[in-house]
Amino acid sequence: MHEATAEPIQDLETMTAPEILRWALDRYHPRIAFASSFGLEDVVVIDMLVRIRPDARIFTLDTGRLHEETYEVMERIRERYGCAIETYFPDRHAVERLEQEKGFFSFRQSVANRKECCAIRKVEPLRRALAGLEAWITGLRRDQAITRGATHKLESDEAFGLLKLNPLADWSLDRVWDYVRGYDVPYNTLHDRNFASIGCSPCTRGIEPGEDIRAGRWWWELADEKECGLHSLHRTDG
Ligand code: ADX
Ligand code: SF4
Repeated sequence: MHEATAEPIQDLETMTAPEILRWALDRYHPRIAFASSFGLEDVVVIDMLVRIRPDARIFTLDTGRLHEETYEVMERIRERYGCAIETYFPDRHAVERLEQEKGFFSFRQSVANRKECCAIRKVEPLRRALAGLEAWITGLRRDQAITRGATHKLESDEAFGLLKLNPLADWSLDRVWDYVRGYDVPYNTLHDRNFASIGCSPCTRGIEPGEDIRAGRWWWELADEKECGLHSLHRTDG
């Protein structure tokens, strides 16, 4: 088991997700933004955010390898909520070099190659997205993975030097689904095809009943390797 991604800095564990988001937006907007991959948790957070502040900032890391279904849900969210989505794309020189030197599926060859691709397509764009912010919000939940069991609702993110809010940290997957259905929130249709966790297209697949939530992510790797650097940079193995 790995250590927690960061230290808790204040006990907000008893606050509800909307209370935490309101607390954070009141303090930090516009120097706070929600990192959204438009997975099931993320559309819940967007629905909560726009109820509190229609101009709450939402950004996404468009890795260039996302599923069509992911672009479709982004578009449906834009239409439904009228919200702006700030997109961050990888540096084209880095991608061109990677593809020319190592081909189009280098991430399958080794964990190091996979992390190199994630570094180019996710982590460097994330650094740009977070530049100038005081806090960021994620849709992380504790029971998503063994690497996330110690996720707190409010953390000091030492890797990026700012506050990190995980308002759904203690939510179960059932509770997320109840919210999505209860408020008729647009969601990625891949979830209807047994995709529990959604990342890039070549690195994500559906899961079998009873399999771990993240079994469909980087399925060729060991469970404790399955982080891409967005939430694990300070770890020695990150
Ligand atoms: S990942 O690190 O393995 O890719 P996961 O898909 O479980 O993460 O998502 C966890 C949280 O990370 C999401 O709720 C979201 O806040 C953030 N996140 C993941 N992927 C992206 C992305 N492409 N763009 C923006 N935020 C993302
Ligand atoms: Fe590259 Fe796969 Fe990481 Fe996406 S998830 S950035 S395609 S290694």
